[in-house]
Amino acid sequence: MSRILSGIRPTGTLHLGNYLGAIQQWIELQTKHDVFYMVADLHAITTPYKPEELQNNIRNTVLDYLAAGLDPEKATIFVQSHVPEHSELMWLLGTITPVGELQRMVQFKEKSEQHKDFNQAGILNYPILMAADILLYKAMSVPVGDDQNQHVELARDLAKKFNREYGQTFPEPKAILTSGKRIMDLADPEQKMSKSLGGGIGLNDSPEEIAKKLKKAVTSSEPKVIRDAMHAAQNSHRATIDAWTGDPNLLKQFHGVRNLFTILFAVADRDTAVKWQTAAEDGTLKFSEFKPALAKAIADHFALFRERREVLASDTAHLDEIIADGAVKASIAAKQTLTEVQQKMGLR
Ligand code: TYM
Repeated sequence: MSRILSGIRPTGTLHLGNYLGAIQQWIELQTKHDVFYMVADLHAITTPYKPEELQNNIRNTVLDYLAAGLDPEKATIFVQSHVPEHSELMWLLGTITPVGELQRMVQFKEKSEQHKDFNQAGILNYPILMAADILLYKAMSVPVGDDQNQHVELARDLAKKFNREYGQTFPEPKAILTSGKRIMDLADPEQKMSKSLGGGIGLNDSPEEIAKKLKKAVTSSEPKVIRDAMHAAQNSHRATIDAWTGDPNLLKQFHGVRNLFTILFAVADRDTAVKWQTAAEDGTLKFSEFKPALAKAIADHFALFRERREVLASDTAHLDEIIADGAVKASIAAKQTLTEVQQKMGLR
């Protein structure tokens, strides 16, 4: 039974990318491993936010975790800032982190570009905190989407460096990535789905909202684009992408259709998936029929989520209890590692 840690920033309702990239695997992993899933509130304050909304967003993220199927009996669910050891280990790891490594992080470059008037050290130091989150629990595996992989690699480099300089302490963590590791925006399939873009599907969206958003999804009328994109969603075959890189328009259509098939394969039952796979193969697929069918498959997949979330939201005492219990459990593991690190570094 290996240790697993992951987290999500509480910046609003979770979207399909968060679910297919991360949470879907979190749920599977909780039955077989020792799992820690946190709400990364300290990471959420590295870009502009409203303090008066933060508590609500944190609680809503925990509700989303529970509604998605995380079980507090199996998983330790907690809020990052409730365990102050995260910040302390971050400081200690900062003493072995090369600044150049932080500056070459893709997310740092994107975020400092995006928030030019909020370009603070927090955005630069973000991956050190993430490494501290992972190493504090001596996690071996980190189920995340593609965009966080580089940060997990830095955590692994820091683990190796710490072990070299101060003696064997940390396992070398690795990201766990799935076929849903990079879900794209429906309307702009060259951008990853995010909380800020318009073409994202929220886990709590009603069936009508989902259908409306799918209407705007980029598709193609080229049977070969459709077939190649479906194959790419099936087995991530790079060669099929290369055929479309010469034409920006067809490439965009390819990304759009591949994304829709990636989502379909992740949420639909087998018969539905096979039906559309065959249509794409035969060149008979009509998006006027496919889009409503995919919308229904998504809405059905999250029907239980919507139901559970409504029930859970009405019991605030139960939620408080889960959050408090999680902090106690996480603190036990965190204190142990921090003391060991302090001793090895000569601070104790
Ligand atoms: P965050 O809050 O941006 O995203 C949470 C998780 O969702 C994944 N994700 C996606 N996966 C597929 N397609 C997408 N379009 C998509 N958008 C987001 C992310 O990869 C992530 O797994 N820094 C992290 C939170 C964090 C963390 C950690 C994660 C803090 N400490 C320690 C793992 C371990 C973040 O901002 O994720």
